[in-house]
Amino acid sequence: MPSTLTDNYNRIHNYMRISITDRCNLRCTYCMPEEGMTFLPNEQLMTDEEIIQIVRVAAQLGIKKIRLTGGEPLLRPNVVSLVQELSQIEGIEDLALTTNGLLLAKMAADLKRAGLKRVNISMDSLKPERFKQMTRGGNLQRVLEAVERCTEVGLAPLKLNVVLMRGFNDDEWDDFIQYTIDHPITVRFIEYMPIGGRQQGWKRDYISLEERLKGSKWHEQAIPVDKPRHGGPAAYYRLPGAKGQFGLIHPVSDHFCDTCNRLRITADGYVKPCLYWSDEFHLRHHIGDDAKLAEVLIRSLEAKPFNHEMAYELSGQSLSHQPTTRTMSQIGG
Ligand code: 5AD
Ligand code: SF4
Repeated sequence: MPSTLTDNYNRIHNYMRISITDRCNLRCTYCMPEEGMTFLPNEQLMTDEEIIQIVRVAAQLGIKKIRLTGGEPLLRPNVVSLVQELSQIEGIEDLALTTNGLLLAKMAADLKRAGLKRVNISMDSLKPERFKQMTRGGNLQRVLEAVERCTEVGLAPLKLNVVLMRGFNDDEWDDFIQYTIDHPITVRFIEYMPIGGRQQGWKRDYISLEERLKGSKWHEQAIPVDKPRHGGPAAYYRLPGAKGQFGLIHPVSDHFCDTCNRLRITADGYVKPCLYWSDEFHLRHHIGDDAKLAEVLIRSLEAKPFNHEMAYELSGQSLSHQPTTRTMSQIGG
């Protein structure tokens, strides 16, 4: 069936990211303030049935890949049974989840059995004390145990997300690349994005990945790797003989919008055609009416910009749209 989710710039949308809770058991510096976060009341979160219905309709429109995000998606009660239901929807070929890993070691086998294919784990430092600081309380050892457990149960290929911040963890770049020599995982360096009204501190802490790669001791040895299927926006490299690989995701310095294939669903049931802009459309109103849900998903693409203009924030250029005021934890990355 041809995809009906094609936007004004001929981009076919086959990937949907769904934030299944905005709550989190961490407060990563780049994502949330230390104190004073308010979370959506439970009744504003989509129910399992609503998520399943939205995915069923989306699959009929050509969505093939689903990623569950948060907040921390493993905090959602019954996440294993939600995964199981979603994995059975016809047309969904790939079901993944992005987590901070704290609760993952003991859930990995159940999630795999329920039909989860892959996980991405956020891990911004390999130093326990610094990890604790950046995440405001995280226990690195528990996350490393989750990494091992995922490899054991076959939640693979496993990816580690590293958001690079100037003066926080940019000195660990080479250590992370070295980690890929002995571990069959993919480390993905991600540029810090100015999401959710965090523009001020962002300008100070943002660092471009190109700038960092040039300064790396591994720069000369890194060999470009072909993009995997359902590839996404990263450029991947491998050191000679390494078990793993590393990738650069640079949404700011070199936006990858021209190949954008994703729609996002917020924890309270809005579809966002672009991560950065404020445009969003309520799906939850139309639960029970598949035709209307399909119409809102298709129509949301009319509001999809060609690119997000995040980098304009650095140069002070004026933006053509209003940026979102939602936090990353409601949008899901
Ligand atoms: N910039 C870049 N990445 C972010 N994430 C959360 N906030 C930001 C931000 N401001 C990442 C998390 C997680 C993924 C879903 O998004 O590290 O891995
Ligand atoms: Fe939680 Fe992820 Fe945000 Fe960190 S980045 S506070 S783990 S939602």
